[in-house]
Amino acid sequence: MSARVLDLHPAPADLVAVVLEGLQRRPRQLPAWLLYDAEGSRLFELICEQPEYSLTRTETALLEQQAGAMAAAVGARPGVVVEFGAGNARKVGPLLEALQPGAYAALDISAEALRQACTVLQQEHPQVAVLGVCCDYSNLPALPADPLLLQEPRLGFYPGSSLGNFTPDEATALLAQMARLLGPGSRLLIGIDQPKPVARLEAAYNDAAGVSAAFARNLLVRLNHDLQGDFDPGAFRYEAHWQREHSRIAMALVSQCEQQVNLAGHGWHFAAGEALITEYSVKYSPSAFAALAAAAGWRLERSWSDPEGDLSLHLLTQADSDPAPPTHQP
Ligand code: AVI
Repeated sequence: MSARVLDLHPAPADLVAVVLEGLQRRPRQLPAWLLYDAEGSRLFELICEQPEYSLTRTETALLEQQAGAMAAAVGARPGVVVEFGAGNARKVGPLLEALQPGAYAALDISAEALRQACTVLQQEHPQVAVLGVCCDYSNLPALPADPLLLQEPRLGFYPGSSLGNFTPDEATALLAQMARLLGPGSRLLIGIDQPKPVARLEAAYNDAAGVSAAFARNLLVRLNHDLQGDFDPGAFRYEAHWQREHSRIAMALVSQCEQQVNLAGHGWHFAAGEALITEYSVKYSPSAFAALAAAAGWRLERSWSDPEGDLSLHLLTQADSDPAPPTHQP
């Protein structure tokens, strides 16, 4: 059985508008999803293998250990599990085994990564109908009207702490958007990376092998290719710093000299030392995350953490569903 992939990727005109808006901001900042073309997705997978970046390993282990408990907490067998930003979709396996949903839908912006992930996943889980949807899920007006996606109840799955790549206001809007997409009575299982010592955090986003830097610079290569640009990636230095007041890592490409760049039919002046923010990675304590989720209409039902308390997986339910007290299992 092969998996279907629906293509709802933003049109090139949308891409131009997004990039122009981001480059006009001060400081200049582009949305994180632009990092994930085929090469960006490949580089991100490499980041996940770097010794300094433990997030993926920790979350994968937690899912493997606790999938049974998570399925028990979810209760009813989901009609469909919808994964937001699925990437290579390598984390959902234990959940699919434990939950046995009717269908699994992977939403991701990177068409090529999605196609490969869905093919592999369909082979590994022939009992689950797999569907890929190539889209910017933060801007999707509704889930596509595909029979697989109409099955209820729906469980959203958002691992990897990708919520941290949005500002808190954007993150609240995204959680509310997920509630809308999934519909009343749905649940969301979400992975959130927690604050930890600054040296560990900065090392995780400044790996010694330089993969994080290559991942950020690939954004310029991608823009050159997609929007007829002439960025010189070598003329930008990569930096990642912890900003304590915002509880976040800020990642930026800093212009090494005064320079003029052409992109999308416009000229852009970069002063020496001027930053282009490529990404934020906000880290939430469990209580800060619960408050954020509540503001978006979700109630915290249950949480699981790794033994070191580096990362948590939280099961949320829509706030208008029957209340149950939250429980936390280390
Ligand atoms: C996808 N996201 C959760 C990663 C993070 O940790 O914020 C993206 C990343 N960028 C550089 N390293 C990792």
